[in-house]
Amino acid sequence: MKVYLDNNATTKVDEEVVKAMMPYFSDYYGNPFSLHLFGNETGLAVTEARQTIADIIKAKPSEIIFTASGSEADNLAIRGIAKAYKHRGKHIITSTIEHPAVKNTFIDLMEDGFEVTMVHLMKMVL
Ligand SMILES: Cc1ncc(COP(=O)(O)O)c(C=O)c1O
Repeated sequence: MKVYLDNNATTKVDEEVVKAMMPYFSDYYGNPFSLHLFGNETGLAVTEARQTIADIIKAKPSEIIFTASGSEADNLAIRGIAKAYKHRGKHIITSTIEHPAVKNTFIDLMEDGFEVTMVHLMKMVL
């Protein structure tokens, strides 16, 4: 028997999600930012999806940002916060166990003058 224990990295897509997404792999595939009809159709679907997610987590639709990957989301969040709050200080504390997408973003921020401290986490044993 196989047991998959890495669902935080990638997980099986729920059948209901697969069903809902199928039309967008075959019938509706226009770039949602394009002005033509194909784009309008998918653009409407993205707007509706953004509203649905916003309603579920009680956010504003403008606060929902779709990214293409976890690494892109890490980059966006870390750089966004670092730059928005740089007037309060440029020292960031993180840990050595972070995903490379997180670690490399912090290393890159060092080139923009941020000081980064990586804390080594140790397991405590009695
Ligand atoms: C925190 C974190 N960032 C980034 C990734 C990588 O995601 P992607 O392959 O979608 O860029 C993972 C995957 O496990 C992750 O856990």
